[in-house]
Amino acid sequence: MAEMTIKKKRPKNLDLKTIRLPLPGILSILHRISGVGIFLMLPVLLWLLQSSLTSADTFAMSRDFVAHPLVKLILFGLIWFYMHHFCAGIRYLLLDLHKGIDLESARLSSKIVFAVSIVLTLIIGGKVLW
Ligand code: HEM
Repeated sequence: MAEMTIKKKRPKNLDLKTIRLPLPGILSILHRISGVGIFLMLPVLLWLLQSSLTSADTFAMSRDFVAHPLVKLILFGLIWFYMHHFCAGIRYLLLDLHKGIDLESARLSSKIVFAVSIVLTLIIGGKVLW
């Protein structure tokens, strides 16, 4: 009987264009993308840190590099990635503790994560990059 239930054809929709993800779903995908993004950018950040500390010349070079508008934009995106990953990470840790797991709370906490991470990005990005 249990086998029959498993084998039963269930409706499937794998068409990415028609899938409408709820906010917690979008948050979850962004958490993964931001985690991978931060990981991939770590060598660049470490290189920047190293060159800013090696000598006065390399410090000036890294300062000029960061002053480029495109680099600023990428770093701004990276700050948002980190803020999103951090806030969503705290939300997941709370969910692991069974805090806020009902649908309404999960939706509310997703909105809070987006709002807090965007505000933090604007404050920190604005202070550090401009
Ligand atoms: C250098 C900084 C970080 C990097 C590179 C990073 C990277 C990642 C990656 C790649 C994942 C796997 C995502 C997935 O497969 O869905 C992950 C998961 C996770 N990260 Fe981070 N992370 C960082 C910082 C943080 C911080 C500061 C927190 C704390 C708030 C955090 C909390 C979490 C949690 C709770 C998960 C598991 C989420 C789940 O249950 O699906 N991470 N992280």
